[in-house]
Amino acid sequence: MTAVTADRSAEPLPRPARLADVKGWFFTADQLLFDWFLSHQRERSVAGDLLELGAYMGKSAIFLGARLGDGERFTVCDLFDSPAGDAPNSREMAKSYATLTRRAFEANYLAFHDELPVIVQGPSSVVGEHVAADSVRFAHIDASHLYEHVHGDILAVRELLTGAGVVVLDDYRAEHCPGVAAATWQAVTGHGLRPLCLTGTKFYGTWGDPEPYQEALLAWLAGRGDLWHEVQQVNGGPLIRLSAKGAKEPAHPVSRYAAEADAAEAVEAPERPAEKAPEPARASGPAARPAAPRPTAARPPRGVLRRVAVDLLPPVLTRALVRARKRARTQAARP
Ligand SMILES: C[S@@+](CC[C@H](N)C(=O)[O-])C[C@H]1O[C@@H](n2cnc3c(N)ncnc32)[C@H](O)[C@@H]1O
Repeated sequence: MTAVTADRSAEPLPRPARLADVKGWFFTADQLLFDWFLSHQRERSVAGDLLELGAYMGKSAIFLGARLGDGERFTVCDLFDSPAGDAPNSREMAKSYATLTRRAFEANYLAFHDELPVIVQGPSSVVGEHVAADSVRFAHIDASHLYEHVHGDILAVRELLTGAGVVVLDDYRAEHCPGVAAATWQAVTGHGLRPLCLTGTKFYGTWGDPEPYQEALLAWLAGRGDLWHEVQQVNGGPLIRLSAKGAKEPAHPVSRYAAEADAAEAVEAPERPAEKAPEPARASGPAARPAAPRPTAARPPRGVLRRVAVDLLPPVLTRALVRARKRARTQAARP
């Protein structure tokens, strides 16, 4: 089949100032759970690498990369702008990920990290040729959402995970992708996958012993007043459901463009009294590795940023800024 992909090599690359600027689908409950599982594994010296099938623009990959331990390998597999191997997958790509390019993923990733992960550009069915069996402690399956692909990804990941490895399945219950639900529960009832917990968007499981994870997770949840949870019995074992409505996201890696964006924001914002400088974001636990250049060790108050921005701006912008500030003062002085 011939797939025609648009040449986007001339398009400007993204310069995300924060993780929220990276397009993708990675919500608070899952950010908290990724953080918890990865920290918990590190605290208990669970060895192994990280793996993501389906990275899109890098949102969850950037987050995972910040929790990579020394000497660990992070592999990301995605088709990016390569053609899919079958017609349904091609249609899925054209419908949902038409603007995706590997260059955009790399630009996003390198905004937060010094080095790229190991990238396998191709169908997830080849991942076993690039990742060793029994080597992965945490795998995120979020590539094609079609049954045949997800079923294959689950069986492939089963071989790659270590004994205590955890697998996360995206969109296991979404209306638009019943194939993920079918493949997920088939793995539970037919292929020995033990459920650990669920959010509204992701399923967490293991082929190892679920009990120590669930015990520790329940202990953590008991101390988190901002997270709701309950336990149900499924297929003869407990399953934790949780939701994080209103909870705060865990720490994100800091972008090398954060200071630039703060300065631009300060120029646009009307004058306000100086705020207390917020602490820079830090991922919790020893797994949290500081991301690449962190220009905002402690942010100066807005007033200082505004001055610096004015000094660095071209005269035409500075004059516009001065005019805008004068206008704001005149309006504020009106009765
Ligand atoms: C839902 S997105 C991933 C979202 C990402 N994990 C995030 O949190 O933002 C799915 C990705 O899977 C990729 N994909 C689709 N079919 C694939 C296949 N057969 N093999 C590898 N990647 C595939 C798409 O290119 C897309 O980037």
